[in-house]
Amino acid sequence: MWLVKKFFIRSLSKFIGFMFARVDLPEPKLLSGPGSLKKLPALIQSKGVRRVLLVSDKGISSLGLIDPLVEALSKAGIGCTIYDDVRPNPTIANIDSGVEIYRANKCDGIIAFGGGSPMDCAKVINARISNPNKTVIQMQGGMKVSGPLSPMFAVPTTAGTGSECSLGAMVSDPESHAKFGVASPYLVPPCAVLDAELMVGLPPHITSSTGMDALTHAVESYIGNWASDYTNSHAEQAVKIILRDLEATYHDGSDMDRRQNLAMASHHAGLAFTRAMVGYVHAISHNLGGLYGVPHGLANAVILPLILDFCRQDCEVQLSKLAIVGGLGRNDESAKTLSVRFIDKIREMNRNMGIPTGIAQLQASDIPRLARQALAEAHPQYPVPRLMKQAECEDILQKLLIIGP
Ligand SMILES: NC(=O)c1ccc[n+]([C@@H]2O[C@H](COP(=O)([O-])OP(=O)(O)OC[C@H]3O[C@@H](n4cnc5c(N)ncnc54)[C@H](O)[C@@H]3O)[C@@H](O)[C@H]2O)c1
Ligand SMILES: [Fe+2]
Repeated sequence: MWLVKKFFIRSLSKFIGFMFARVDLPEPKLLSGPGSLKKLPALIQSKGVRRVLLVSDKGISSLGLIDPLVEALSKAGIGCTIYDDVRPNPTIANIDSGVEIYRANKCDGIIAFGGGSPMDCAKVINARISNPNKTVIQMQGGMKVSGPLSPMFAVPTTAGTGSECSLGAMVSDPESHAKFGVASPYLVPPCAVLDAELMVGLPPHITSSTGMDALTHAVESYIGNWASDYTNSHAEQAVKIILRDLEATYHDGSDMDRRQNLAMASHHAGLAFTRAMVGYVHAISHNLGGLYGVPHGLANAVILPLILDFCRQDCEVQLSKLAIVGGLGRNDESAKTLSVRFIDKIREMNRNMGIPTGIAQLQASDIPRLARQALAEAHPQYPVPRLMKQAECEDILQKLLIIGP
């Protein structure tokens, strides 16, 4: 039975991968470097946009991070309406409110300003504006969004999700406790700003968890079956920077160069995973996010070493290459030694940045359902190196009940 199921999952995954490789995915035009946000109003003007909806969250607006931009937009004669009610793991209601405010204020463009939550929310608001007859639920999955969409400018303030260059957006449904994706090439923001000045105040625990999210994107894209030379080259650049700079930035977030490097690493990882996809770490993490609201990056950081233990033998060569890229070993060492060292390094980074080994909110009674949902999300669209059975997924979730330092 399992062999038949495996055959179907693998065949479908191959077919989806074959078709997806033929989709022309755009990449955002980048404004990059500390202070680069200052160039955004002129770029918005050049697109003929007259009034933007600025989508953010209260954490960011209360820090005053958006104030200089709002002032600069006003000086440039661009109207700006702020919607800063986006919640972490943004909800359908967040999107619907944003759509109403966009329409009521006759906006003609969107700025997504924040971490993955405001960026994903803004992407789906934009999709709904141009697809007025579809609800968010009806856009769930791939290729349900028609374009073109209104001009969008993504300003990530975490490093991060890579949402500024990805074709996806994750939405939570508080009613069903599900977290689902909307994916379309039209969702790739045409313009993005990578400005480290916005990230120097990022608290250590968000620096670490969002950095580990970016590392997970790079690793899952690299070990998956849809990886290409293009995605591998971006994933390698991300891994190199994150292994070198993340821990130091967690301990001292004020170094602008390191912050800029990490913003770029997150972008590289985004370019890799938007084409080569993610894997079981994300499948489990999305479901923990949907059910308990566990922060996405934190869940990924905790789950990543467990999934790599599970599939190490099936992606030993890829993990050993990443170990070398990350400066953890030499070419003449065995793939087994190097791949184990790479996983150990992830555990060490987690420990050094105060990331626990388990998920405090997880209830043992929820494990069978979480495993079922995670596998339904992963099969067949995540091209994982080793397929997982229900019992194996439950075993991994059981391990998350033990909260270590
Ligand atoms: N679309 C994609 O490709 C993609 C990829 C990965 C994750 N995601 C989604 O992104 C969401 C997570 O995004 P995230 O990890 O960036 O976190 P987030 O956007 O939820 O933000 C987390 C917290 O950090 C604060 N914050 C953000 N920037 C800050 C700054 N510069 N200074 C101080 N505080 C700041 C926010 O106010 C918030 O309280 C999840 O919903 C996840 O599923 C999307
Ligand atoms: Fe992620």
